[in-house]
Amino acid sequence: MAGRHFIDIWHLDHLELREILDMAHAMKAARKGWPKGRVDDGAPLEGHTLAMLFEKASTRTRFSFDMAMRQLGGSSITATAGDMQLGRGETIEDTARVLSRYVDAVMIRANDHSDVEAFAEFASVPVINGLTDRSHPCQIMADLMTLEEHGVTLRGARLAWVGDGNNVCASFMHAAGKFGFTLAVGTPARYAPDDEDLDIARETQGRIELFETAEEAVAGADVVIADTFVSMGDSDAERRLEILEPYAVTEDILDLAKPSAWFLHCLPAHRGEEVDAEVIDGAHSLVFDEAENRLHAQKAILRWCLEK
Ligand code: CP
Ligand code: NVA
Repeated sequence: MAGRHFIDIWHLDHLELREILDMAHAMKAARKGWPKGRVDDGAPLEGHTLAMLFEKASTRTRFSFDMAMRQLGGSSITATAGDMQLGRGETIEDTARVLSRYVDAVMIRANDHSDVEAFAEFASVPVINGLTDRSHPCQIMADLMTLEEHGVTLRGARLAWVGDGNNVCASFMHAAGKFGFTLAVGTPARYAPDDEDLDIARETQGRIELFETAEEAVAGADVVIADTFVSMGDSDAERRLEILEPYAVTEDILDLAKPSAWFLHCLPAHRGEEVDAEVIDGAHSLVFDEAENRLHAQKAILRWCLEK
């Protein structure tokens, strides 16, 4: 296969991940002040097309990948599974083989992580994970880029994840050892991270500390991170909202972190549920820089995948 897949952060070594973040910072700086649709110098992905397949809703992933391809001098085609024969039972394997004949790379947002893995196995072009039930690696690359922009040295930093030990939390766990930060996770036992992700973190030298309260996880943190209590595909919304209520990031919770602590949230957010408006709209919040950096980080991921 020409190129490389980007399915999970732990599949890459720390030098490759570093190369992607460095490229993202440099490309962002090089086009500061430009109109958003202008093509980067050298049009690194000229002539290349990305297919984007969505089995779930998306605002940021959809627009940021589309603009990423435009800025790199390429183009994209978007479809939802319902628009495709995939939604009528055509196999992942055949879809992967067919799309590989038309496009240069594929980004997939899927319900089941195993579908992305199967797609990658049968595709002959790079496949990028645009979120599954298990992980969200593109988000974490943008988040880490954002922290670096705001002066956080990742090696030795203490990041606190509070709420549901979900797909986004899993990708932070996969990144901990690669970038040398500690991840303190505060979740109720019922919504604790999966053992499989804890094993991956351990095998990649990630320092993960598990707590059952938000207060313990956040104490002394450099960064506090929240996500929705009810992810796409979760069927137990009522129970989640009840059990996770004590894990909301309020101003009192944020006060337990370092005075300089930053707040991250991948969005979409639910003010008054997992985070108070005073926090997400306050001076410590980086959420819109995070959203912007999806674009810059994914441009670097696309170039890494296509070796351009
Ligand atoms: N954070 C994120 O992936 O947002 P979307 O669901 O809008 O793509
Ligand atoms: N955990 C959330 C993230 C959305 C970007 C979900 O999977 O719905």
